Amino acid sequence: METSFWEQKWKDGEIGFHREDFHPYLIEFESTIKEFVRKINSRKDSIPSALIPLCGKSKDLIWTSKYFKKIDGIEISTLAIEQFFQENFKKDKMKFYKGKKGNFKKYSVTPSKESSDFSKFQGEINLYEGDYFKINELVVEKEIPESYHFIFDRASLVALPREMRKNYFDITQKLLAKSPLGLYLLSSFEYDQTRVDGPPFSVEEKEIRSHYSEKFGLKVELKKEEKTEIKGPKFTEAGIVDFIQKAYLITAQ
Ligand SMILES: C[S@@+](CC[C@H](N)C(=O)[O-])C[C@H]1O[C@@H](n2cnc3c(N)ncnc32)[C@H](O)[C@@H]1O
Repeated sequence: METSFWEQKWKDGEIGFHREDFHPYLIEFESTIKEFVRKINSRKDSIPSALIPLCGKSKDLIWTSKYFKKIDGIEISTLAIEQFFQENFKKDKMKFYKGKKGNFKKYSVTPSKESSDFSKFQGEINLYEGDYFKINELVVEKEIPESYHFIFDRASLVALPREMRKNYFDITQKLLAKSPLGLYLLSSFEYDQTRVDGPPFSVEEKEIRSHYSEKFGLKVELKKEEKTEIKGPKFTEAGIVDFIQKAYLITAQ
């Protein structure tokens, strides 16, 4: 799947995946995340950092800045990034740095400085416009850390077809800090992929475990499994009305 597919989706406004609220899993696992950040802070040698791959214009970037001091989002679409800033921060007060980093452009904002609604938040959000599969360039340039304390993956892994996911698993596991300072919250969907094609794609637990657990030795815990209603003409036509949604907490052992 070419990145142009997604750029076109943003141009056409076909962004049914976008949520106007914070993702419920962040709220549900908030105490785990809070306790985890407390541990990082108690070490005094690291600044809590978070990564949101394929972030779109997700409000989860803002929620994450409640606990993490540095939040990096990677997104291919310029429109998504522009909308993120326009919709969340007062334009006249917006002071964000826009630089060019190799194949990536960088945009930054500190929510607490830009809006009183976020006064209790502490982190700086950096959005990198570019291809996630080239993220290593940012690591090599020391623009981003080699690994992050927290990774939040919602509608990111499932946005990719199987042939791209192998590479995604590989890249993403490398970016997770080693135990006890790495926590990865992953939300995925399962449905009958023989009846209709993605995105979102069905990513079965077996596939997640075979990469993150068997290949890379991470601890994969299934924390939640629920039916979730799915809308969209291609799913309706295929007679699929709901997905199984699963939440995993993944840590280095
Ligand atoms: C299904 S959306 C999910 C967005 C976000 N995670 C959310 O929850 O709203 C997938 C996003 O990934 C972006 N994307 C797809 N391929 C990408 C790539 N190779 N590098 C960076 N972003 C990509 C798309 O533009 C789109 O915004």
